[in-house]
Amino acid sequence: MDLKHEIQRRRTFAIISHPDAGKTTMTEKLLLYGGAIQQAGSVTAKQNQAHARSDWMSMEQQRGISISSSAMVFEYDGYHVNLLDTPGHQDFSEDTYRTLMAADSALMMLDAARGVQAQTEKLFAVCKNRGIPILTFMNKLDRPAMDFFELLEQVESTLKIKVAPLTWPIGSGPDFKGIFDLQRRQVLLFERVEHGRERAPVQVRDLEDEALADLIGADAHRQLREELELVEGALEPFDQEAFLRGEMTPVFWGSAMNNFGVENFLERFVTLTPPPAPLETTAGPLDPEAPFTGFIFKLQANMSKAHRDRTAYMRVASGRFERGMEVVHTRTGRSLRLSRAHSLFAQDRESVEEAFPGDIVGLVNPGVFRIGDVVSVNPKLRLHDFPRFTPESFMTAYAKDVSKRKAFRKGVEQLAEEGVVQVFYPTDGARDPLLGAVGHLQFEVFEHRMLEEYGVAVELMSSSFKLVRWLAGPTDKVERFARQVEDDQGRPVMLFRSVWDLEYAVEQNPDLEFLPQPKDL
Ligand code: G4P
Repeated sequence: MDLKHEIQRRRTFAIISHPDAGKTTMTEKLLLYGGAIQQAGSVTAKQNQAHARSDWMSMEQQRGISISSSAMVFEYDGYHVNLLDTPGHQDFSEDTYRTLMAADSALMMLDAARGVQAQTEKLFAVCKNRGIPILTFMNKLDRPAMDFFELLEQVESTLKIKVAPLTWPIGSGPDFKGIFDLQRRQVLLFERVEHGRERAPVQVRDLEDEALADLIGADAHRQLREELELVEGALEPFDQEAFLRGEMTPVFWGSAMNNFGVENFLERFVTLTPPPAPLETTAGPLDPEAPFTGFIFKLQANMSKAHRDRTAYMRVASGRFERGMEVVHTRTGRSLRLSRAHSLFAQDRESVEEAFPGDIVGLVNPGVFRIGDVVSVNPKLRLHDFPRFTPESFMTAYAKDVSKRKAFRKGVEQLAEEGVVQVFYPTDGARDPLLGAVGHLQFEVFEHRMLEEYGVAVELMSSSFKLVRWLAGPTDKVERFARQVEDDQGRPVMLFRSVWDLEYAVEQNPDLEFLPQPKDL
């Protein structure tokens, strides 16, 4: 097995979008073109997730949103593509961000009638922060869209990224005729057929060609020529290096629902996007060709009723993963045999025998893994950084039925470990835990899963705390200052009711640091 070849043909990416822009539809169509599913609609990503997961997904179905993430795999044109599914609901959790830590590039889906929306901005910021390349797909061209130039302008000004259209739409809504491929100089003609395939492209050597006017109509022809003049005259041409640095996004247009423009996108996607990048570790960048290393970016309990266990999602960062291999869990220094490994895109679990950088492997987690953990043949490797997000709202939780305290504790522990919520404990030990979240939906998911998976009805009471800070500084000072609340790893934190309270504490305690995230992982 040629490791270098396997790395070069891996593409691992995630789709980011505001709810309803068409992420699920696009996922399904990509899987269709990748041959991973036979018929569009037969296994939608949403349905598949619902099958593979436990009942708490009923919440997802009720709301029609995708709460959790999984990894899907398909082969295309010799490339091995891993598609990470990121939750796309309004309210978000840490889960989304963590998943983006495992992606080498991202596809930003926009609804061409709505442009950049709130959730797009938040997710885009995470990708931008990581410096990963971002591609753009303007969706729903079969519906009336915003002015195309305005749409591009909006992306540039809101997201501070340069745009470079690689295709250009010919009309929209009832007048949508197709797309023009700027590099190949060809027109893809749109046909409004349910779940249909697009018609064969028409080579266009000369835009002035009257034959093209016959195909798309004289008005559309004139408009296309005028628009292309502007696009090619006024916009910077696509620059692969700027794209790889995350400074420029290639823009594609189409209609995912109609399969239109999807394959054109996929063809370019595999050649434009980079193979797995070196992992940032405390010892510097780790070459994907180095001996085996993987890191955990997500944990999930009770994926299915048939397998009541916890799964740790590992991304292979370097070398070849083999089932049963012996590695070091670098945080604890303990040796581990990775024998129970499975793929995540399947209704029935399939064992994974081997995997390469960029691949996602599900490991059965007997409680040893935490987010950001590294397993490696090199016992010294640790991740350079793994973001946690600072909770912004807090709730006190307790079990309605006191006899369920044990199950309550277990559920809180496991769901906090997954990042459903963050948990803080008063150090007097007697009181109920305080839950922290970024978005309110996280509390609802927590409540629902506690009942479904642990059989505990919980009562949540809103708390007046608004801010949390992790304390650092000389130990005696930290101890003296405040040792009333700690996080689930026993690190001292302080909770505040207002920014003013926090600022006062900072002012009064120049020796102490008040950090929005813990210093160590
Ligand atoms: P999401 O995962 O980003 O939330 O979006 P999803 O794919 O579920 O799409 C949201 C809605 O937009 C769906 O309609 C979907 O069919 C529709 N849609 C996706 N792509 C296109 C497109 O290219 N053109 C048009 N016109 N619509 C598109 P729905 O009514 O909510 O669901 P469904 O009944 O169609 O499944």
